[in-house]
Amino acid sequence: MDWEPLIEAATTVRERAYAPFSSFLVGSAVLMSDGSVHVGCNVENRTFGATICAERVAVTSAVAHGARRLEAVVVVTDTDPPAPPCGICREVLTEFGHPDVPVLAVSTQGTRRETRLGDLLPQAFDFSHWGHNT
Ligand code: THU
Repeated sequence: MDWEPLIEAATTVRERAYAPFSSFLVGSAVLMSDGSVHVGCNVENRTFGATICAERVAVTSAVAHGARRLEAVVVVTDTDPPAPPCGICREVLTEFGHPDVPVLAVSTQGTRRETRLGDLLPQAFDFSHWGHNT
């Protein structure tokens, strides 16, 4: 796995985060199975609840571009240790990626922590739990 292009893309988009309330800038890049890379930053809202995280912006952008199969995820923050995806983002990423998809959390100071979607969200709710047959 060549992480460098994804880290560079996530680091660049992080600078575009709209985070006037938390001042916590997050950048994300996702690699899809068709080879495309999509990026996202967090976009906060004055209602707080309407805030959307960087990872969800990245993966929803991928879907809007026609790519649905997730292969890898990078999240960049300026914290050390770097921040992993939040719970809602774990759910949304799991919608498009299998449990082995690697997730790399990166600090702008250089620390990297690699994990997998299945470790971040074990025993995920899926179609088999409600009898859906696709
Ligand atoms: N945030 C993300 O963008 N991704 C995460 O996985 C965790 C949190 C953002 C949301 C909010 O704008 C700020 O970080 C503080 O929670």
